[in-house]
Amino acid sequence: MSRIAFVNGQFVPHMAAYVHIEDRGYQFADGVYEVCEIKDGQIIDIDRHLKRLSYSLSELQIIPAMKDQPLVVKMKQLVAKNRVKDGLIYLQVTRGVAPRNHVFPQNTKSSIVMTAKSVSPASKTAQYEKGVAVISVAENRWSRPDIKTIGLLPNCLAKQEAKEQGAFEAWFIDEDGLVVEGGSSNAWIINQDNEIITRKADGSILKGITREAIFNQIDKSEYRLIERPFSLREAILAKEAFISSATTIVMPVVKIDNHLIAGGKVGQIAKLLFEKYYNYAQKTTI
Ligand code: PDD
Repeated sequence: MSRIAFVNGQFVPHMAAYVHIEDRGYQFADGVYEVCEIKDGQIIDIDRHLKRLSYSLSELQIIPAMKDQPLVVKMKQLVAKNRVKDGLIYLQVTRGVAPRNHVFPQNTKSSIVMTAKSVSPASKTAQYEKGVAVISVAENRWSRPDIKTIGLLPNCLAKQEAKEQGAFEAWFIDEDGLVVEGGSSNAWIINQDNEIITRKADGSILKGITREAIFNQIDKSEYRLIERPFSLREAILAKEAFISSATTIVMPVVKIDNHLIAGGKVGQIAKLLFEKYYNYAQKTTI
């Protein structure tokens, strides 16, 4: 079955899904995006994703071309048209098409595109069982990572470096030696007192949707959540470490740079958080 994309109100074959060369997303990275997980035919945490989308748009003064309700209808249709049971939706909104000029255009309608694809859960099983490696890289992004902008070049470079070093993710480290977040995920550690630690969403990180659902989960558990920065050194000495995102959910980290975490074995608390995650994430039936 051929894939179907959504481009500015129309469903079109993926192969023929184009935007104009003067779309400001293409020329200036002037746009924002969301990635939502689809699990067992349900869109996970759609309300939280829409809320964050709306925040990103308003921070950049982009007026959305669609309201939430009709957008959700189109998202569900897209998932159904592509027959995705487990996978992802990618949604991008840009300021739209206008002659190239740094200043915002007047009266230009924003563009919206979406794709949906299947990702077999089995393809990720080995990673969950073995855990992944991360490398540390110097923070070199702009000062607004709280906006989910499509301007992701530093993230791409960091993740490429990780790949070249045989790792899965790169953790940005700030000037004080503190872990900020991953190239496409939030960073977490668990210390010897079983405290689950992640950086506060104080503007220096993206406020991950998966992160929020994990907060709800920890609230109901015997573990304690602490929102504070942690150093790379602390992470290396941690009992466990993991990353979170819509694409990885709770993915155990077993190596940071050249240091094994917990002897290189997947941590039990991270494993438990992953196994019980969907009891806490909101599911929207398609
Ligand atoms: N990335 N931090 C960054 C920099 C991210 O790009 C992401 C998500 C997250 C986690 O957010 P969430 O839990 O809402 O997925 C944190 C997506 C998956 C991506 O760029 O593909």
